[in-house]
Amino acid sequence: MAELKGKNAIVTGAAVGLGVAYARALAAAGVNVAVCDLRDEVLTLAEELRATGVQSVAWQGDVSDPDHVREVVDGTVNAFGSIDILVNNAGVWGASIPEDNLDKSLDDYDKIVGTNLKGEYLFGRAVIPILIDQGQGGDIVNIATDHMVTCGTPWHRCPNLDKCPWGDSPRPTGGGDIMDLYDVSKWALNGLLYAWAKALAPHRIRVNQFCMGATDSFMLRGFHNFDPPQEEIDTWMKAEDNARVLIELLEEGPEGRNAQNINFCIGRPVALEEPLEQIYIFPDHVQIGGAS
Ligand SMILES: NC(=O)c1ccc[n+]([C@@H]2O[C@H](COP(=O)([O-])OP(=O)(O)OC[C@H]3O[C@@H](n4cnc5c(N)ncnc54)[C@H](O)[C@@H]3O)[C@@H](O)[C@H]2O)c1
Repeated sequence: MAELKGKNAIVTGAAVGLGVAYARALAAAGVNVAVCDLRDEVLTLAEELRATGVQSVAWQGDVSDPDHVREVVDGTVNAFGSIDILVNNAGVWGASIPEDNLDKSLDDYDKIVGTNLKGEYLFGRAVIPILIDQGQGGDIVNIATDHMVTCGTPWHRCPNLDKCPWGDSPRPTGGGDIMDLYDVSKWALNGLLYAWAKALAPHRIRVNQFCMGATDSFMLRGFHNFDPPQEEIDTWMKAEDNARVLIELLEEGPEGRNAQNINFCIGRPVALEEPLEQIYIFPDHVQIGGAS
């Protein structure tokens, strides 16, 4: 089990929801945590984390802005001396439909794809050279959605069918009909996941992805006009439980799973299950989560 105490992490979108739970769980494990968000609560979060005995720094800004990304990543190195963990969590949901007009579509694109895809891409590009230079391995965890992962593989092509934790149901939704851009932005993260995992495995840098089902957060409550019925809330997963799994994943260390879409869907325990065999082809020299 890898020792997390004293490691240094960045968590994006850490003001509320899953991000604040990830940041708190990392700090509780003794990790120094740099946090950023559009919302100003992120600044008081850093104070809260420092009070627990770890180092913490915070920036308010937009993950789609390269200057902000540079500021956060350079600032983290200045403050902590190195970076070991990147949790690419900042995300935004918005309704978008194929018949939207062009002006709305452009605004949606900048906001949704800008945050969910460009933000993760930029943070990866800024952090990865640092991780490689440090030569100490590292972890990148991107936060996606369960829409494509429950698991999205056609039955007849799935090599994991006999181990499928979902059995006959539920099958992946593949996304919704009022969120084409949100789904684009999250499906696209698979491109980063697999390419980064392949390229970075020789550096002992793991890249995994959490594919979230309904988890109580500002975003999910917003999806329900901030007035969800209690019986619906009762079915949702808790961010704190997911944050516990993040810690377990990081504790696996460099020999742990890699290039995995780790799915969390309501009705199932929020737990780190056995890694699944890879669906895609990986070079022989790349060890991928025990399924080399
Ligand atoms: N909660 C769920 O049910 C669920 C389901 C699927 C996927 N997700 C994903 O999980 C991640 C966290 O979502 P959440 O539910 O905690 O949402 P949330 O809205 O509660 O929190 C997201 C945080 O990201 C921040 N953020 C948004 N756009 C940003 C930007 N451009 N720059 C910097 N910060 C920005 C927000 O201010 C907020 O603090 C997201 O990537 C989301 O897409 C969540």
